[in-house]
Amino acid sequence: MSGAPSDPSRSEDPSRDLPEEPRDRGPATSSVHAGELRQQEANAITTPIYQTSTFWFRNSKEVTDYQEGKSNREEYGRYGNPTWRAVERKISALEGGEETVLFASGMCAATTTFMALLPEGSHLIVTSDCYRRTRQFIEQYLSRMGVETTVIEPSNLEAFREAIRPNTKLFFTESPTNPYLRVIDVPAFAKVAHERGVQIIIDSTFATPVNHRALEDGADLVLHSATKYLGGHNDLLAGTLTGPRAMVEPVRKALGVLGGIIDSHAAWLLLRGIKTLDIRMERHNANGLALATYLEAHPKVRRVWYPGLASHPDHAVAKRMMKGCGGVVTFEIETDLEGAMRFIDATRIPYQAPSLGGVESLIELPVTMSFWDKPKEERLRLGITDSLVRYACGIENAADIIADIEQALAKV
Ligand SMILES: Cc1ncc(COP(=O)(O)O)c(C=O)c1O
Repeated sequence: MSGAPSDPSRSEDPSRDLPEEPRDRGPATSSVHAGELRQQEANAITTPIYQTSTFWFRNSKEVTDYQEGKSNREEYGRYGNPTWRAVERKISALEGGEETVLFASGMCAATTTFMALLPEGSHLIVTSDCYRRTRQFIEQYLSRMGVETTVIEPSNLEAFREAIRPNTKLFFTESPTNPYLRVIDVPAFAKVAHERGVQIIIDSTFATPVNHRALEDGADLVLHSATKYLGGHNDLLAGTLTGPRAMVEPVRKALGVLGGIIDSHAAWLLLRGIKTLDIRMERHNANGLALATYLEAHPKVRRVWYPGLASHPDHAVAKRMMKGCGGVVTFEIETDLEGAMRFIDATRIPYQAPSLGGVESLIELPVTMSFWDKPKEERLRLGITDSLVRYACGIENAADIIADIEQALAKV
């Protein structure tokens, strides 16, 4: 630990001069303390927002020392900022990873990572139940860069084994996936991947490091749309990538070129949001399970997808691998599109909006939102019927969420 800075104009970045993080702390303690300096400017408790686009050098020697890697400081705002560094270290501690890089959004994390790690002529394997913009990037843009892709069903380990080619470099999947919350058996997939020299990236947005530690289960890299549970308040967009330094650094370098960096104010909001991650996840997990259990017993509900229910195809994997299953519940009502719209419009607690993971509950009909532009046949092939609903529980009281759903279902 460094002492209190005595010279306010000093050029070293104090937030990089950190004590060793104890490795044996629980996620609640790490959410609050990890990554942040105990001794801040003016004895402040919180990390400041470093609202600056560049960092000055006191003399030319400092410049050359920096260029030769002899000093640990910031240079220019596209390459780093002490507020981001604190977030990056906090997420590294929570994920149990060596290094994290922060981005302006989850999409920016995915696109920058693919561009940095997939050379021309390489092959990527992805799962079919995947955020539509990630799929769009792979289909429309990565293909133009000479990267081939194979899509497999989530959880189909045999299909994965068969899809691997000599030029396969990466396997990318969400876990749980969206909207069916399929849970990937990460240790099993990682074993097959590593036997064949393939690296595995888990988009753990729906899980968070509280519910699943993907790196400990064998993933090489873990990615988040931090817009969701990590930020947790529906008030920012951000993305992260965590893993071994040797894999993360090329992605950080690509970020410095592509430029999708987060603003330091949004980074600070994320830092603050993460402090309550562990406690929020407890409530999201409890609300998700309570809502799913209620819906499964309701006569107007045809089917519920929630990995915490025994009826979910990946229940056994979720039980073994995850601490909780999060706040998102997908279900199909016994009605048509008009009835489903009447149901959504009758709810009073959730906002009708895309996204998930914030303190406010959100609800959407995938058919009118994320799958609006898909042809009907394709949509139905993916199981997105007119009455499929995605409910992203916030941290309200479960009894209120359920009472609200009950009165809305009565209107169907
Ligand atoms: C699983 C998953 N990954 C990535 C993203 C993209 O994140 P962002 O909206 O922060 O760009 C989303 C967005 O909904 C998502 O659900």
